[in-house]
Amino acid sequence: MASNSIKLSSFLLLIIFVCSNSELSQPKETKMAFYFQDYSGGPNATVIEITGQPNGLLSFTKFGAIFCTDDPITEGFDESSAQIARAQGLYVTSALDGSNTHVLISIVFTNNEYRGSTLEVQGTSAQFERVREVAVVGGTGIFRLARGYATFETLHYDHALHYAVIQCNVTVYHY
Ligand SMILES: *[C@@H]1O[C@H](CO)[C@@H](O)[C@H](O)[C@H]1NC(C)=O
Ligand SMILES: *[C@@H]1O[C@H](CO)[C@@H](O)[C@H](O)[C@H]1NC(C)=O
Repeated sequence: MASNSIKLSSFLLLIIFVCSNSELSQPKETKMAFYFQDYSGGPNATVIEITGQPNGLLSFTKFGAIFCTDDPITEGFDESSAQIARAQGLYVTSALDGSNTHVLISIVFTNNEYRGSTLEVQGTSAQFERVREVAVVGGTGIFRLARGYATFETLHYDHALHYAVIQCNVTVYHY
């Protein structure tokens, strides 16, 4: 009986310690807006289809299609504005009817402020909606333990160049 109550009280102490420890630091909120410079074709493509056909045409609506991407991310809409990160990872068309793509990308920062830190963007994206929202599920460096969300909106598309500019807004909580 005595040993049981000792176990119980040390268990309660542990709970109190864990609770108070996590209350010590409040998460910070960071909001960012930047632009993906996306070429889905041509000699300098930044998105390629891993499951692609020899003709090189990308089939975004084909269930099971897998794409690899490395888009430059710039501070402004203009392609020549400062590059602050790259969006590296995969997209997988994950809805049978082709409407959703599964996003698995890291935002790999290259600017002075966040160099060496990353954000992990993961989740389903209603790829043909005007605004798509995907979860931010983690991060490294400055963004350790990050969570939040990102919105994506295609502001420009040039069919001949296969060139799109996608505005990405991120809101994350991190420590
Ligand atoms: C592709 O990239 C190369 C090397 O940066 C550049 O010289 C060329 O003009 C680019 N081509 C197009 C179509 O953008
Ligand atoms: C993203 O942020 C920009 C700049 O703050 C804003 O104009 C735009 O409406 C935002 N987009 C979305 C989808 O919230």
